[in-house]
Amino acid sequence: MTDPTDFEEKQHEPGPSSMGQSADNSPRIQSSSGVGKDQLLSILDASPNGVLVTDTRGRVEMFNPAFRVLLNLAPGTSTGKALTDYVTDEGLIHLITDIATGCYDENIKIPSYSFSVSKDKYLLARVQPFSDSANRCLGTIVYITDISAIKMLDRLKTEFVAKVSHELRSPLATIHEQIALVMSDLAGSLPESDEHLLSRAREKTQGLIALIGDLLDLSRIESGISSQPPREIVLDELLDNIVSFLRTRAEAKDQLIEFIRPETPVPSLIADPLALESIFGNLITNAINYTQDGGNIRIRLESNGENVRVSVEDNGFGIEERHRDRIFERFFRIKNAKTRYITGTGLGLSIVKTLMDAIGGSITVKSAFEKGSIFMVTFPKTMIPS
Ligand SMILES: Nc1ncnc2c1ncn2[C@@H]1O[C@H](COP(=O)(O)OP(=O)(O)O)[C@@H](O)[C@H]1O
Ligand SMILES: [Mg+2]
Repeated sequence: MTDPTDFEEKQHEPGPSSMGQSADNSPRIQSSSGVGKDQLLSILDASPNGVLVTDTRGRVEMFNPAFRVLLNLAPGTSTGKALTDYVTDEGLIHLITDIATGCYDENIKIPSYSFSVSKDKYLLARVQPFSDSANRCLGTIVYITDISAIKMLDRLKTEFVAKVSHELRSPLATIHEQIALVMSDLAGSLPESDEHLLSRAREKTQGLIALIGDLLDLSRIESGISSQPPREIVLDELLDNIVSFLRTRAEAKDQLIEFIRPETPVPSLIADPLALESIFGNLITNAINYTQDGGNIRIRLESNGENVRVSVEDNGFGIEERHRDRIFERFFRIKNAKTRYITGTGLGLSIVKTLMDAIGGSITVKSAFEKGSIFMVTFPKTMIPS
């Protein structure tokens, strides 16, 4: 096995939703000399996006009409009060307060933040600190955009994918079974070329069935429906079962697969069992698939007294640095001579990442090209029953 310290580490960053902005060095504002304070205020007044300004203590100094409408504030609302009188979303209050009080330094990307103010109204907030010409921090400016339409389209897409996948699943399963049946009935009596055609058709339908399974998993996760209610799960047992189930697959490739039990007992987790199965199943299947025949796979369960961690390590193909962020994208697959004949959908890791995000955990990958990879998932303390 490769020494894990050889690996270059890559913490998977939050996805495209985090569009932090940092101010560049261009001059402050471009305007012709005639544009004065009144005009600037009229521009803010007419802006379709909400704007709110706080001082360095988080007290509200200004907001425009669009902000009032977007946040459902009463018409006569005045400025000068604490942020909590204008914003009810706790996450946004924290973000603005952190930035106002200087918790984010200039070089850190500030994540954008989306939240809802009613059942069908979704807003995106971007928060920036701002300073005067002498670089003294004056407070924060908060921009609010209405993203309800984008959210609705996203939901429609999820529902559409779920519906189409669902409708395709049973006929495909039937086709797959029928091809298998024809092949076994006519075994030996078919010309070799026909047998080859049938087995290709069987493999392709199997690939489509796997794709549909992944798409259904994804749309279930996206719509926030957990497949089973959370319950107490003993990870030791769950991992043992998954490893035993996948052992046949590893042994078919002469691989050694071992589950290294924790030295000290690891607390159980309160979780949706199907979500955990999907996370570990995907990571271990990948380790088997992307490791050459005769390779080694190690699954480790451990706890540092705070968090519970599971790592899946292989001494397989490894992942080049340039692909390391992209493997978590939907449908992304690395194409090279080694992976060419390995079937897959490119959805597994995006499912794992989405599930880990949903439970407030994290996933990291360390990999050395042509030496191996370690995928590590960390579960938050909040999942441990008190
Ligand atoms: N353990 C691993 N070792 C090397 N490459 C991996 C490993 N796990 C995933 N990958 C790469 O990441 C890609 C995306 O993985 P995944 O999302 O599970 O999709 P799929 O396995 O269906 O291709 C894979 O196609 C493979 O190239
Ligand atoms: Mg996979």
